Amino acid sequence: MLNQDYLVRKMTDEDLDRVMVIEQEAFALPWSRESYLSELKNNFAAYLVCDVEGEVAGYGGIWVVFEQAHITNVAISQDYRLRGLGHSLMLELEKVARQKKANHILLEVRPSNLAARTMYKKLGFVDMSIRKAYYSDNNEDAIVMIKYLF
Ligand SMILES: CC(C)(COP(=O)(O)OP(=O)(O)OC[C@H]1O[C@@H](n2cnc3c(N)ncnc32)[C@H](O)[C@@H]1OP(=O)(O)O)[C@@H](O)C(=O)NCCC(=O)NCCS
Repeated sequence: MLNQDYLVRKMTDEDLDRVMVIEQEAFALPWSRESYLSELKNNFAAYLVCDVEGEVAGYGGIWVVFEQAHITNVAISQDYRLRGLGHSLMLELEKVARQKKANHILLEVRPSNLAARTMYKKLGFVDMSIRKAYYSDNNEDAIVMIKYLF
């Protein structure tokens, strides 16, 4: 666990410079600043950042539409990985889903992404189905994972 103080809070426009840096290092298909700006105005979405002593160490997003929640993305800066922050951020996103009365959470993950798959399994997600050739950069399939909220 991280031995510095951190808090999980709502993402704001002011976080986007740092979010863009992490987005580029974390994803083969990064979202644009415009995508995040529009997501921050989306009433069905919630975006949280993990703030370590004033620096954004990571972030994640969720859509909740009626009973279904969907993780849109989660990323932790390389400098802050393997300290439990991804896990903590996911638990906060799950809280949002519960508050909005979702009964399950879905997400997609690359089969090759063992770090994320291990994290999701630890959080109680299970493999549900495959979306063929989901990722356009290399045609990799996506594993759809689900967690039921009771
Ligand atoms: C996936 C990611 C968010 C994990 O963040 P993190 O803060 O390093 O994860 P945590 O430290 O909270 O780890 C939680 C659990 O995940 C597993 N895990 C995380 N990274 C791992 C790795 N590199 N190898 C194996 N297991 C790993 C561990 O089981 C860990 O639990 P433990 O510490 O009790 O062993 C981070 O690696 C990342 O940003 N990756 C790039 C973006 C990405 O792939 N996002 C997910 C898209 S679906």
